[in-house]
Amino acid sequence: MSQPNPQSSSPLLDVRADFPVLDQDVNGKPLVYLDSAASAQQPRQVIDAVADYHLKDHANVHRGVHTLSQRATDAFEGARDRIVEFVNANSRKEIILTAGTTESINLVAQSFARPRLGKGDKILVTHLEHHSNMVPWQLVCEQTGAELVVAPIDDHGQLMLDELRELMTPDVLLLAVGHVSNALGTVNPVKDIVGWAKQQDITVLVDGAQGVPHMDIDVQDLGCDFYAFSGHKMYGPTGTGVLYGREELLEEMPPWQGGGDMILEVFVDRSVFNELPYKFEAGTPNIAGIVGLGAAVDYLRGIGPERVAAHEHYLLDYMTEQLTAIEGLKPIGTAEHKTSVLSFMLDDIHPHDIGTILDHEGVAIRTGHHCAMPVMQRFGLPGTARASLGVYNSTDDVDRLANALLTAKRLFA
Ligand code: ALA
Repeated sequence: MSQPNPQSSSPLLDVRADFPVLDQDVNGKPLVYLDSAASAQQPRQVIDAVADYHLKDHANVHRGVHTLSQRATDAFEGARDRIVEFVNANSRKEIILTAGTTESINLVAQSFARPRLGKGDKILVTHLEHHSNMVPWQLVCEQTGAELVVAPIDDHGQLMLDELRELMTPDVLLLAVGHVSNALGTVNPVKDIVGWAKQQDITVLVDGAQGVPHMDIDVQDLGCDFYAFSGHKMYGPTGTGVLYGREELLEEMPPWQGGGDMILEVFVDRSVFNELPYKFEAGTPNIAGIVGLGAAVDYLRGIGPERVAAHEHYLLDYMTEQLTAIEGLKPIGTAEHKTSVLSFMLDDIHPHDIGTILDHEGVAIRTGHHCAMPVMQRFGLPGTARASLGVYNSTDDVDRLANALLTAKRLFA
């Protein structure tokens, strides 16, 4: 891994060289990648771990006595062990390996909530949620007759905490809340929120897809019951993810999907299910992807979450300062606590046009609703332009973004 200069007092990291994909021109200009909230790039350490696995160790896991199968199992289970430490779970029984945040949340909706919900019960979410922390709850409410209640946000894109607390009534089974808004970058005070919910005996799921890549996560300190996240937002492969769940709850929950690996014994008329965490892992998993996720955990821990947070905090401040100096640029989402994301509108240029012009300048950002249409509806917008940061970004990247936005302004003047 590239090392920071020990003489330098700058909080900025210097790890761009770890990311081979960034070393290219796009539309004749050196690539500036500012779309990590959609999917972060992978360092060579992750790419090599996946390639090595394919080149030397691939076989199915938990199934063979032969050497390759044992190596594959060790690599796969080794990744789980690293994730246990990464989020400070109590044990490997609490770490379910999934295809991503979406699958993790659907698992909780169907296996934890569905059997417990009925008419008169409520699920509480917030207006700030990504679709993957909204739609699974809509579905389970439709399936059970329960009601979905949505806590409001203010004009800065912050949760209205008094209103949220008032909605924590005894008929709420579960609160599902994002750690960080992917659309606006708002960081929610999840530890406080969990504390309030626990006073009312409400189970809490935290959507940590945008939390894990940017800060130190300690699920025991947060006190949440479930914490879901994805590999590809944290410099790992797509199609990988994690559900942390408190062992006591996971033990009570029925399997979500049936198939191989989640069973101990199968008879034609019944099955005996495997122990945790395998009870929730049906079928051959994404072994190579999870090996890569383990390498991504090592990569992030190698840098250290405090240094990642300091780098991104500095760059977000710099980006906010540079972009808001552009006449006609309006930031959307001005919460007091934010990380890594700046959503904005520029004059009356459609966000997709901004994205296209920036792409011509070699600058990659996301435009649209960011899979968070309710957030856009709250601000009365069809979408925004969104620049999002990762460990590899620099002030030069931000300067290139600012210049490309000035070009867009000139073209639309
Ligand atoms: N959830 C992803 C984003 O924020 C796709 O762009």
